Amino acid sequence: MTKKNILLLPGDGVGPEIMLEAIKVIDVLNETNLSDISYDYADIGGIAIDNHGTPYPDETSVKASRADCILLGAVGTKKHEKNENKLKPESGLLALRKSLDLYINVRPVFLFEALLESSTIKSEVIKNLDIVIIRELIGGVYFGEPRGFKDGVNRTGFNTMSYSENEVTRISKYAFDLSNKRSAKVTSVDKANVLEASQVWRETVTKLHADGYPGIKLDHMYVDNAAMQLIKDPKQFDVILTENLFGDILSDEASMLTGSIGMLPSASLSDVTGVYEPIHGSAPDIAGQGIVNPIAMILSVAMMFEYSLNNIKVSNLIKDAIENVLRSGIFTKDISNKKEFASTSEMGNAIIMEIKKHV
Ligand code: IPM
Ligand code: MG
Repeated sequence: MTKKNILLLPGDGVGPEIMLEAIKVIDVLNETNLSDISYDYADIGGIAIDNHGTPYPDETSVKASRADCILLGAVGTKKHEKNENKLKPESGLLALRKSLDLYINVRPVFLFEALLESSTIKSEVIKNLDIVIIRELIGGVYFGEPRGFKDGVNRTGFNTMSYSENEVTRISKYAFDLSNKRSAKVTSVDKANVLEASQVWRETVTKLHADGYPGIKLDHMYVDNAAMQLIKDPKQFDVILTENLFGDILSDEASMLTGSIGMLPSASLSDVTGVYEPIHGSAPDIAGQGIVNPIAMILSVAMMFEYSLNNIKVSNLIKDAIENVLRSGIFTKDISNKKEFASTSEMGNAIIMEIKKHV
């Protein structure tokens, strides 16, 4: 087994707490020779502003570019919320994504059977749910220029949403290739009835499909309708392909189908590296209380094994351990229907115990 070096970016809020549980999992896998991983730490987000005066310090950037892959907790603080954009914690995350060319964001949305009753949606609507959102991650309105403020009597903020054929083609290829390994069905989500950026998006997806992916069933859907359909009948989807902002919004929405936003992991990929992080934010309101659900983070470790470390066996081992823990009735506060619930570290420990049972 070749040694892998990963970079840990715990970040802000609940980030450090969930990272601790991820580290416990990696340590157990190392101890049992299922992995050979060394890890280092760096700051990103609010903690980096405090320690280095910038949300994405050079030291973090150098370590990130040298690591085999990266695990990230969350960024965002109340303290820096009113800072100018480049000194907001979120800018650190966006800089990381952009500088590593992480244009692919994979957000699997699947339901653990034991959580059927934790979702606010009727169980027959979500039973056996298994979809993937492929979100373009370094384009669109998040990064478009020009952007800024026009000061004056009627202060105005403005942003630009743009997509080029090349940007759309590379993310769409990823979605189509993935879809070929699943049920060969892609729904591309846009707002082509209003936005030029979406018109190029739709034309490009349609052309790529016609030229190279005849076996895949492709549908197009407007984002407002997609938001509605996700709640009405989520199982009509398999792979959802969409742009940056729509993917951000739809993935938070989709997370509630699985019971809690604390359940959803993500992989942000370039052609050479990956950053693995929960889709939820830093949740400052619950930070430091030991109640955050570490499962999205630990599932992100599982995704790291699948995508960057090419070890599907360990990835499945982690997922199965989580499934068994949930089946045994251990729930954190966000997914518990009862007064009693497991703390963050109790959930982490239960998952580790379960992993140990199967090695
Ligand atoms: C996400 C988050 C980020 C985003 C924030 C923290 C910048 O919401 O990963 O979904 O908007 O992409
Ligand atoms: Mg988001």
